[in-house]
Amino acid sequence: MKSAILSAALLAAAPVVLAQSQNASFLTGLLTTLQSANLTSLISATTTFNSSGVGQGILAELSGGSPFVIFAPTNEAFSSAPSNITSNSRQLSDVLAYHIVNGNFSNTATTYPNVTLGRTFLNDSEVVHLEGGKAQVVAWATRADGHIHVLNQKNDSIVVNTTTFGNITINIVDHVLAVPQSLQGTVPTEDANTSLSQLPTFLGAVNVPFFNSSSNSSSSVSAFNLLNNGLHGFTFFAPNDSAVLAAQSNLTALASNSTALSNLFYNHLINDTTVYSPEFVGQSFTSAGGESFTFSINATGQYVTSGNTTALIIQPDVLLSSGVLHVIDRVLINTDFNSGAASSALASATSAAAQSTTETQPIGFSATASLSSAASGSGTNSGAGASGSNNAALVRFAGPGKAQMFALGMTVVGVLAGAFITVL
Ligand SMILES: *[C@@H]1O[C@H](CO)[C@@H](O)[C@H](O)[C@H]1NC(C)=O
Ligand SMILES: *[C@@H]1O[C@H](CO)[C@@H](O)[C@H](O)[C@H]1NC(C)=O
Ligand SMILES: *[C@@H]1O[C@H](CO)[C@@H](O)[C@H](O)[C@H]1NC(C)=O
Ligand SMILES: *[C@@H]1O[C@H](CO)[C@@H](O)[C@H](O)[C@H]1NC(C)=O
Ligand SMILES: *[C@@H]1O[C@H](CO)[C@@H](O)[C@H](O)[C@H]1NC(C)=O
Ligand SMILES: *[C@@H]1O[C@H](CO)[C@@H](O)[C@H](O)[C@H]1NC(C)=O
Ligand SMILES: *[C@@H]1O[C@H](CO)[C@@H](O)[C@H](O)[C@H]1NC(C)=O
Ligand SMILES: *[C@@H]1O[C@H](CO)[C@@H](O)[C@H](O)[C@H]1NC(C)=O
Ligand SMILES: *[C@@H]1O[C@H](CO)[C@@H](O)[C@H](O)[C@H]1NC(C)=O
Ligand SMILES: *[C@@H]1O[C@H](CO)[C@@H](O)[C@H](O)[C@H]1NC(C)=O
Ligand SMILES: *[C@@H]1O[C@H](CO)[C@@H](O)[C@H](O)[C@H]1NC(C)=O
Ligand SMILES: *[C@@H]1O[C@H](CO)[C@@H](O)[C@H](O)[C@H]1NC(C)=O
Repeated sequence: MKSAILSAALLAAAPVVLAQSQNASFLTGLLTTLQSANLTSLISATTTFNSSGVGQGILAELSGGSPFVIFAPTNEAFSSAPSNITSNSRQLSDVLAYHIVNGNFSNTATTYPNVTLGRTFLNDSEVVHLEGGKAQVVAWATRADGHIHVLNQKNDSIVVNTTTFGNITINIVDHVLAVPQSLQGTVPTEDANTSLSQLPTFLGAVNVPFFNSSSNSSSSVSAFNLLNNGLHGFTFFAPNDSAVLAAQSNLTALASNSTALSNLFYNHLINDTTVYSPEFVGQSFTSAGGESFTFSINATGQYVTSGNTTALIIQPDVLLSSGVLHVIDRVLINTDFNSGAASSALASATSAAAQSTTETQPIGFSATASLSSAASGSGTNSGAGASGSNNAALVRFAGPGKAQMFALGMTVVGVLAGAFITVL
């Protein structure tokens, strides 16, 4: 990556009022630390970053002395990154903001399938659509090879070395991290266990009402499109391929009842709240259908229950631009709908989203759990569990095109009953 290219374009991002000014001597020390780790491409990128108000503000925060984690891509990582990321200054700024995590993570080290999640500085509304304007998160964990991997990346991204400057932990990483995308760009398909190639079909066959506040009009959209770009902040329990196939007879039985089908969909969804796997422990949540989700964990893994179905979470925390997926091994067969519970859950989610909070520790961090695990030396903070996908099998993002999904949707819908209406 050429710094001349980097500094060429002006940033499109709107400048922000600086909350604090940069501590030049601190930043010089930080850059010197990056230099001694040979991270010259990152240093060049920082120059571009500092040409925007957003970047200047983030560098000012970094220089305040509080703990942060920086994922610092190597020179090789920058040179192999897609050129549209490194040559476009707004995208480069977004990408760099995604590499900086607020908070103290020094006592947390999770082993997959337990996951550490931190809130980054990426909150550009063009690429992040979480509830309450929250910034995007990044997820990482130690895998069986003993290395820390940043999870859910198209290119398996490994922390190859770690250094520090003051309170800042610098995790040197062998790829530039990709910012989470929409559902359509994310649906994992390659790993047999977590493959979601049936998901577009499953969701494409469900029609739900959608109120478009910008055009002030109501319409009917497929559940797939609703998750793809209709919600700002959601949690979806996504049945894997074998789950959808195993539930085929149940789905066929519901095919003529669109209310039952949309209820079934709503009972896989938490609306307006993005809940990551460490937050399940000891909590319950209400679905968009007003039904309770309950969670349990044992030596086999972490489970979610709705109605009479309990499913194993086989891949937690597949991050999306507007929420998160957790891949499960069963369709939650629950067609009940409790409108009172659904609206009160949505009301409290909406009011919670409106409160701004600054997260300075891992998401779902429990001080008690941390203290006891630190004392026992394991240093874990989260409670996700999933046997079966423990062997460093990575989710691969295939990002099938809309036409492919449509074709797939039509084929299987046709096979199913012919009664489903697709609005993909
Ligand atoms: C700036 O950072 C240096 C450490 O690099 C620190 O010694 C100094 O106190 C900081 N200055 C201010 C004003 O915070
Ligand atoms: C940085 O690069 C120089 C030469 O290119 C090499 O001698 C040195 O070991 C490298 N340092 C690190 C930390 O990789
Ligand atoms: C960022 O830009 C400001 C103003 O242009 C400058 O004063 C500051 O030294 C720069 N910081 C870094 C780290 O380059
Ligand atoms: C590191 O952060 C802690 C707060 O978490 C603060 O008390 C301490 O002064 C910071 N250290 C430095 C060197 O800035
Ligand atoms: C960058 O280009 C790749 C194809 O090379 C494309 O898939 C990706 O969506 C582009 N990214 C952005 C942010 O435009
Ligand atoms: C890791 O970083 C340390 C400095 O923090 C350096 O001494 C060491 O050579 C690095 N190791 C590798 C494999 O680059
Ligand atoms: C799903 O269908 C099977 C028969 O194919 C049936 O035994 C089972 O009870 C159904 N499950 C639910 C929750 O309705
Ligand atoms: C359709 O499903 C809903 C929700 O489960 C149920 O209340 C309703 O009775 C069903 N309608 C028919 C015709 O079976
Ligand atoms: C989801 O929440 C939004 C508010 O953020 C609301 O407008 C929408 O109707 C809700 N959808 C469902 C299916 O609950
Ligand atoms: C863990 O809980 C699940 C769901 O309740 C159960 O099927 C499984 O047998 C349990 N595993 C162990 C080891 O207790
Ligand atoms: C759970 O099973 C019980 C007993 O078979 C049944 O009465 C109830 O309707 C089921 N609940 C759901 C949500 O399917
Ligand atoms: C994940 O966390 C749970 C609960 O803290 C713990 O029981 C389990 O051993 C952890 N799993 C791994 C692989 O560290």
